[in-house]
Amino acid sequence: KFDGLALTPPMGWNSWNKFACDIDEKIIREVADAIVSSGMRDAGYTYINIDDCWHGQRDSLGFIHADPVKFPSGIKALADYIHSKGLKIGIYSDAGSQTCGGRPGSRGYEFQDALTYANWGIDYLKYDWCNTESLNAEGAYKTITAALRKAGRPIVLSICEWGDNKPWEWAEPIGHLWRTTGDIYNCFDCIKDHGTWKAFGVLAILDMQDGLRKYAGKGHWNDPDMLEVGNGMPQNEDRAHFAMWCMLAAPLIAGNDPRQMSKETLQILTNKEVIAVNQDTLGIQGFKYATKDSVETWLKPLAGGDWAVCFLNRAKTPASIQFDWQEKTIFDELSQRELNAKDHTYQLKNLWTGKKSGSTAKPLRANIPAHDVLMFRLSAK
Ligand code: DGJ
Repeated sequence: KFDGLALTPPMGWNSWNKFACDIDEKIIREVADAIVSSGMRDAGYTYINIDDCWHGQRDSLGFIHADPVKFPSGIKALADYIHSKGLKIGIYSDAGSQTCGGRPGSRGYEFQDALTYANWGIDYLKYDWCNTESLNAEGAYKTITAALRKAGRPIVLSICEWGDNKPWEWAEPIGHLWRTTGDIYNCFDCIKDHGTWKAFGVLAILDMQDGLRKYAGKGHWNDPDMLEVGNGMPQNEDRAHFAMWCMLAAPLIAGNDPRQMSKETLQILTNKEVIAVNQDTLGIQGFKYATKDSVETWLKPLAGGDWAVCFLNRAKTPASIQFDWQEKTIFDELSQRELNAKDHTYQLKNLWTGKKSGSTAKPLRANIPAHDVLMFRLSAK
């Protein structure tokens, strides 16, 4: 979508994964405070996004209002507060008659709602897909895009259609990011069947990204759903989850409670060099280069001829790897983008330990713990 918004994957926080419908303005304000005081804002987390269940009723003219009990000061006041902290604010609606949480949806009120959001100072809209019987997905999302444009405020549009209508095939001119799957939940290697819908763990979501990378680029991103870092998985799984979302050039929308996160959670979420892989200006989604036993090797081209390389151990047991950078296929792959490297040699930096780790002249031998990653930046210089 070429309006200059979201030229790198959007970064921020969203209320759903941790709080679901249990939100109010106090929580949102405190989270905004914590995003600033923890250093998350300065690490790039800009959007404070309110998900489902902020709504009250429409008035007699059809204008939507916030729940007067949970948001007594109203959304405009919250937006002003969030903006005063150097952050941006996101809100949530649904293309259908009701949201998934049973609140008023935007169907039939698209232009009016877009105007309201613009008046409130909203910067980001997540637009869900519940209760949309008989609606055409592309058409419905086109309508809200037209409405936002008419309202005249630059607003990032997050298409939350779960992938059934293949949004990657049509959403590039319509939204800035589109969900590729159903909902994530805080489990590394699981799928939970809820009968009418399924929730997916990290690896299941990852596997559903196959074939989608060509649709992503500057201003239009595949969205494998929000982060579960800090929501109960062990540190190694949180780290692997975060690393892979960075390799995928996925939006980095934290879903934890930043008011009471552990040091480890904060360290994962604010690892500058791992974030730099995600936010790289080329905007190219990474890809799975190889699979050997339980270990996948992922590559992501970066600006300036650099590469990110991430080895993901999917097994519940440690894996040892041997990787020869000079082996022809990988050598050819890496050389393609090489601009500056002499003798086709890159310097390696381990992005989770922060240590320099030799060069690609020698084969890599390493152990990767269960459900963990080994991630490098390869520098051409
Ligand atoms: C379904 C979406 O996929 C979730 O991310 C969340 O927004 C819920 N709906 C809210 O009801």
